Amino acid sequence: MKAVELTAPSLTAFRTTQLPDPEPARGEVVVRLRAASLNYLDVAIATGGFPVAGFPMVPVADGAGEVAALGEGVAGVAVGDRVIPHFMPGWLAGAITPGHVAALRGVTLPGSLAEYVAVPAASLVALPPHLDFVHGAALPIAATTAWNAVRSASVRPGSVVVLLGTGGVSIFALQFAKASGAKVILASSSDDKLERARQLGADHLINYRATPAWDEEVLRLTNGRGADLVVETVGAATLARSLQAAAFGGTVFTVGFVTGSVASIDMLPVIVKALRIVGNNTGSVADLAQATQAIAAHRIVPAIDRVFGIDETQAAYAELSAGGRHFGKLAIVH
Ligand SMILES: NC(=O)c1ccc[n+]([C@@H]2O[C@H](COP(=O)([O-])OP(=O)(O)OC[C@H]3O[C@@H](n4cnc5c(N)ncnc54)[C@H](OP(=O)(O)O)[C@@H]3O)[C@@H](O)[C@H]2O)c1
Repeated sequence: MKAVELTAPSLTAFRTTQLPDPEPARGEVVVRLRAASLNYLDVAIATGGFPVAGFPMVPVADGAGEVAALGEGVAGVAVGDRVIPHFMPGWLAGAITPGHVAALRGVTLPGSLAEYVAVPAASLVALPPHLDFVHGAALPIAATTAWNAVRSASVRPGSVVVLLGTGGVSIFALQFAKASGAKVILASSSDDKLERARQLGADHLINYRATPAWDEEVLRLTNGRGADLVVETVGAATLARSLQAAAFGGTVFTVGFVTGSVASIDMLPVIVKALRIVGNNTGSVADLAQATQAIAAHRIVPAIDRVFGIDETQAAYAELSAGGRHFGKLAIVH
C-alpha cells in the first residue's frame, strides 16, 4: 500500500513509500483510509516536542475511511461501513489509565497517512450521514476534547463560555456550546477569523492582540461575573488570565500547550472563586461516539479551512505549524 512516513522529528522529513498491506487480527478490521486531519499534536511530533515509538513512522492521529476487511470474531461492522477509527483505540469508556496513553494512533501506532490501517473494531465510530470523510477525519481528537469540555462544565442555556483562538478544539467547542444554548466569548488574533467565528454563532469577539487584557474584557462583558467555562487551549501564555476570566465555581478546562506547558499562576483566584481546573487527555471511544451523536443531532458541520492532497503533506504541516493562519481544521485526502 502507499503510505507517507515521517523519517525523523522534522517538518521536512516526509517520504512516500510502499508498505505491506495490514491484515486484521482477531477483533480487528482493516480500514481503507480516505482522509486525515491535522492536530497540533502532529506538529509537536514532527518537531520533536512529543515522544513517539520510533522513526520511520506513519504519522497523523486522526482519519476516516471505510471498512475494507473484517478479522475473526468481528460483529456489528460490515465491509463498506463509513467509519472513524479513534485516536486512543484501547480506551473504550470510563476513566483514563496509563495503558490508554500508551496506544495512540499516529504516535505509537500507525497513523492515517497510509491507504489501509488495522484497528480494533471496538475503536470505530460511525460517520454521521451528513458528513463526508474529510469532516469525519476532523473529529477524533478535536471534537472529543471540545465535547468533554462542554460536558465537564454542564454547559446549558445561559452559561458563558470563553474560547481562546480559532483552532480545531476552539471551533468545535464553539459549535457544541452554541448547540447547548450558551453565550460564547471568543478571542483571536485575527479580525477576519473573529468574523468567521461570529458567523458560527460567537456572541462576543475579542482581538487579543488589540486587547491583551482579554480577561478584563470578559469580566466587563459579563457584568463582572466571568465565565462558567474557559477552554484553555493555549497554555503558558494565557492560563493566568483564564483563571481571572472564570466565574465563581467556574471550570478552566486545561488541554493546550501551544505557548508552552510551564505556567506560573496566582493560586488566589483558584482558591477564592473555588475554581475547577480540569485536565483532559482527549477522551474515550465512548466520548467520541457521544460527540458524534451530538454532531449528528445538531447537524454540525466541522469547519475545514483547507484540504491538501497526500502528496502535499509537508505543506499541510507547514500551514499548521505557522500558527495563527488556519481556522478550524486542516485536512489531507488520499
Ligand atoms: N489535552 C487534550 O485533550 C487535547 C486535545 C486536543 C488538543 N489539545 C491541545 O490543545 C491545543 C490546541 O489544539 P488545536 O488542535 O485546536 O490547535 P490549533 O488548531 O493549532 O490552534 C491553535 C490556536 O491557538 C490560538 N492561539 C495561539 N496563541 C494564542 C494566544 N496567546 N491567545 C489566544 N489564542 C492563541 C491561535 O488562534 P488564532 O489564530 O485565532 O489567534 C491558533 O489558531 C494544542 O496544544 C493541542 O495539543 C489537547
